[in-house]
Amino acid sequence: MSATAPDEAPEFHWDWFSQHIPAWRSLFSTIQPLPRKILEIGSFEGRATCFMLEHVLAPDAPGEVHCVDTWAGGVEHSALPMEEVHARFRRNVTLLVGRLPQHRVVIHRRTSFDAMVRLIAEGHAGTFDFVYVDGSHQAPDVLEDLVLSFRLCRKGGVVICDDYFWQRQKPGEEDVLDSPKLAIDSFTNLFRRRLRFLSRMSGQQLAYRKTAD
Ligand SMILES: C[S@@+](CC[C@H](N)C(=O)[O-])C[C@H]1O[C@@H](n2cnc3c(N)ncnc32)[C@H](O)[C@@H]1O
Repeated sequence: MSATAPDEAPEFHWDWFSQHIPAWRSLFSTIQPLPRKILEIGSFEGRATCFMLEHVLAPDAPGEVHCVDTWAGGVEHSALPMEEVHARFRRNVTLLVGRLPQHRVVIHRRTSFDAMVRLIAEGHAGTFDFVYVDGSHQAPDVLEDLVLSFRLCRKGGVVICDDYFWQRQKPGEEDVLDSPKLAIDSFTNLFRRRLRFLSRMSGQQLAYRKTAD
């Protein structure tokens, strides 16, 4: 990706990430060495991607963030101009990589299932130091994202899942299949002997360290 003028700033129209920054800073202040290879499921405009490029990747070593997104939006994004979102994502990460040329961004514009199956087939299983799961909110998709990202994460690596309590319906009309919680609970119960929960996260996010393959 090419360099851009140093005074340009990334541009974001939505913010689902800034509220988590204090918890992320606290968590990553305890993680040594810092990640060099990151997988992000659901990148949208690149707000979390830019933060990870600047503050999560080890600053003094070549790093890479693999960004997986259809840029078609989830079911809750049907009214959003997703091609504009995609263009903004590309501008934002180009800007950041221009400032941090030791790092690179690898874009996988496909469903998370297709992207992660390909990454596994290409030999990336067990190689990611950190995975951020923030894609589809549909429980069956989230379960696939969690199982496949567990495979891609290295032993000792860290995974954060967003939107534990996210739901679209009014209280009393919840649809458990239209929410990540059931998938996150199912995954963490089934894999509980191969992970350890990490504290310090804000209410909507859950973090674990992979302790066994
Ligand atoms: C909540 S947004 C991600 C927000 C982003 N992490 C941030 O920090 O601003 C969710 C993203 O997941 C993507 N997405 C939804 N379902 C997906 C799927 N099955 N595969 C890949 N991407 C998907 C959407 O296109 C959307 O951009």
